[in-house]
Amino acid sequence: MYLSLEIFPLTTVSLSQRAIQIKESQIREASRYCERFGAINLAQGLPDFPAPEALKEAAREAIAADINQYADSWGWYKLREAIAEKMQRDNHIVVDPETEITVCCGATEGLNVALMSIIDQGDRVLVFEPFYENYVPNLATVGGIPEFVTLQPPEWQVTQEMLEPIFKKGLKAVIINSPANPTGKVWNRSELEIIAKLCQQYDVYAITDEIYEYIIYEEEHISLMGIEGMRDRTIVVNGFSKTFCITGWRLGYVIANPELSAAIRRIHDFITISAPAPLQHAALTAMQFGREYFINLAADYQRKRDRLYPVLAEIGLSPVLPKGAYYIWTDSSVIAKDAESAAFRLAKEVLVAAVPGTCFSQPDRQRVNGLRFCFAKKDSTIELAISNLLKLKL
Ligand SMILES: Cc1ncc(COP(=O)(O)O)c(C=O)c1O
Repeated sequence: MYLSLEIFPLTTVSLSQRAIQIKESQIREASRYCERFGAINLAQGLPDFPAPEALKEAAREAIAADINQYADSWGWYKLREAIAEKMQRDNHIVVDPETEITVCCGATEGLNVALMSIIDQGDRVLVFEPFYENYVPNLATVGGIPEFVTLQPPEWQVTQEMLEPIFKKGLKAVIINSPANPTGKVWNRSELEIIAKLCQQYDVYAITDEIYEYIIYEEEHISLMGIEGMRDRTIVVNGFSKTFCITGWRLGYVIANPELSAAIRRIHDFITISAPAPLQHAALTAMQFGREYFINLAADYQRKRDRLYPVLAEIGLSPVLPKGAYYIWTDSSVIAKDAESAAFRLAKEVLVAAVPGTCFSQPDRQRVNGLRFCFAKKDSTIELAISNLLKLKL
């Protein structure tokens, strides 16, 4: 039976300020109107191709073996060990699986518990714009106040001059997303060193969202935690969604020093108890994939990027070539007077859905005229999208 609005009229609902501040996700919204028009979904950041067979088989085996109950709240120990090995091998950072790694329900939960562990009401947190849509609502849930620094295409470069004043104002933390959604920016060593120096000078924590670590093209991924002086003031958030094509499995992890991890673990325990037990077992199989898997992953995405990018340029959208992640940021002012109208027009007229740039920008920056196209799609989906996009009459 459905609850009737007559029994619970909306006027009796007394929402928290937190709930009021959190708006509907424009990314999920774009997917909804994509369905309405029957458009090709280059909006939401999820692949439309299968996950690796060995990984699916490992999940089937784990369920058949009755691994069905709550996992260790900190994460299955063998998986934590594998994460520690990966950190040493790929990031050159030694972490203790016993005290410094927590497996959680996606990087999304990881980011939330990281923020909950250090942010109090009114604490300021630096966010680089354009930013991943979740950061602002995530901050709203803990009462954190975002302080924005807007980066400019095509390099999205960060300089000491643009950061110093904002650090001087007083910050509790900074969120760094590299490779970044939606811009494809990959933070280079000198930019990370600027951040590291300022974090130490002004006693600021860093939360790094490294979910696209292995989806990277001409550049090298550098983890801020490995930069001098940052080992104990960085909280690394990462996960399995993007690297292994399993966004629906909800598996992520957080790495932080033992004291921070103890707090993160307590919060995680009371929010979700544990990440899905059988899927953690399967994820161990993924962690054991050889080097080739990661090389092919990046090469495949690079090929897809290099197919879509020139088409977006050809139709006049001035795309910015991403150095990592699986999105292309473009201008949308040639399509419509604002990003939302541009995304709507694209979906309606040529049946291609993209995300309006407004959702990656400050709430009062409604005039951001950009679009984000996701190329984590089968070649056939990309080809179909391209043939539709080429019909756009501008
Ligand atoms: C930058 C960034 N961080 C985190 C996430 C979410 O990751 P997860 O699926 O592990 O929660 C996404 C998903 O699109 C993302 O783009």
